[in-house]
Amino acid sequence: MARIQITGGVPLNGTVEISGAKNAVLPILMASLLTDQPCQLHGVPHLKDVTTSIELLGRMGVLVSVGDRCAVGLDASGLHTQVAPYDLVKTMRASILVLGPLLARSGEAQVSLPGGCAIGARPVDLHLAGLSAMGADITVEGGYIKARAKRLKGARVVLDTVTVTGTENILMAATLAEGTTVIENAAQEPEVVDLAECLISMGARIRGHGSNTIVVEGRERLDGFDYTVIPDRIEAGTFLVAAAMTGGRVRTDNVRPDTLDAVLGKLRDAGAVITTGEDWIELDMQGRRPRAVDITTAPYPGFPTDMQAQFTALNAIADGTGVVRENVFENRFMHVLELQRLGANLLIEGNTVIIRGVERLTGAPLMATDLRASAGLVLAGLVAEGDTIVDRVYHIDRGYENIEEKLRQLGARVRRLAA
Ligand code: UD1
Repeated sequence: MARIQITGGVPLNGTVEISGAKNAVLPILMASLLTDQPCQLHGVPHLKDVTTSIELLGRMGVLVSVGDRCAVGLDASGLHTQVAPYDLVKTMRASILVLGPLLARSGEAQVSLPGGCAIGARPVDLHLAGLSAMGADITVEGGYIKARAKRLKGARVVLDTVTVTGTENILMAATLAEGTTVIENAAQEPEVVDLAECLISMGARIRGHGSNTIVVEGRERLDGFDYTVIPDRIEAGTFLVAAAMTGGRVRTDNVRPDTLDAVLGKLRDAGAVITTGEDWIELDMQGRRPRAVDITTAPYPGFPTDMQAQFTALNAIADGTGVVRENVFENRFMHVLELQRLGANLLIEGNTVIIRGVERLTGAPLMATDLRASAGLVLAGLVAEGDTIVDRVYHIDRGYENIEEKLRQLGARVRRLAA
């Protein structure tokens, strides 16, 4: 299994280009199922989850062509199977995003239940409840969700918990339903907004996206799209934290600063000097050690759970004590025990980690456990003395495009070790 070796101690310096947002690309790729017209998506990052999505769509009969400059063409006119099989769903929970579009366009869908996940139970009950409210007949048999509906009907769907992919599934289904759907307590994440904008470009009638109430008037059919995805705010945030931890100065290009307010606020609290332009952010730590910061994760516009592990790593070497509260997912502290192996001082109490910053960490072999936890470990490796080797980097490859190459551009001593 491939590993990444990091020799710590270099302040990062330079400019890095941020890729398209994984969490916007995945639902938009699945939105191609809503139409028999050709679609083009630009700014698609080269990631394992993107490859998995393309494979999933291909198995259903979608023609996929990968072009130059991160463009992907999709043509679902020959859709012949409405099944998302276990072997793919188990490697990527976001496969559940085919459920709404398939059901809305074909009247049926069979999607393997994703099952447990390294970061907590992560059920899909709210996706199913929403589609049931729209008239779908849903059963679970042999590990598969089997859904049928002649034509979905608009409904009022109140989500008990804010769910990102749940909102996206119901939103996509509603675009082809008969009548008006109102999604209440909807997720407000920029990636949900991006999906809605893409759907609007296909002719969907949607308003309220970006607020907690989304209203969709269903249409008989949708056109194709030619759309460019938003930049990845989590990738950008990760590089900025890396700069802050190493006392460096880094500019991220191709970013949307307005989607990073909560993260930039915490980086400023940590002592970083931050300047922003329309599509760039520069962080200058001026060689200082970061101050500890308290974090509480929450749905957007709150502090993103996908940045929690990176800030836990920052607190590990910060001046003072930081308290990190994880409110979105249970069991998302897999990185904590690994950070202790580098000499970090952390204590888990329920959904909270108390981190007493230490002056130095020392390199050690580590095991990546999930996507964002792995990013936290790589960041810690950048400041640890000596060599840190992060094993199971396939987790990182699910969500970060060329992470070691981008870090190297900024001066980090990072290399991938072959399996
Ligand atoms: C998405 C993101 C992931 C991010 C997460 C939270 C994608 C592909 N992934 O994941 O990177 O960490 O949002 O910002 O966009 N829940 C239920 N029932 C459901 C659905 C969710 O109880 O039917 C709960 C979950 O267990 C969790 C919370 O709702 O506690 C939020 O999860 P959700 O927003 O659904 O996460 P994902 O959409 O899977």
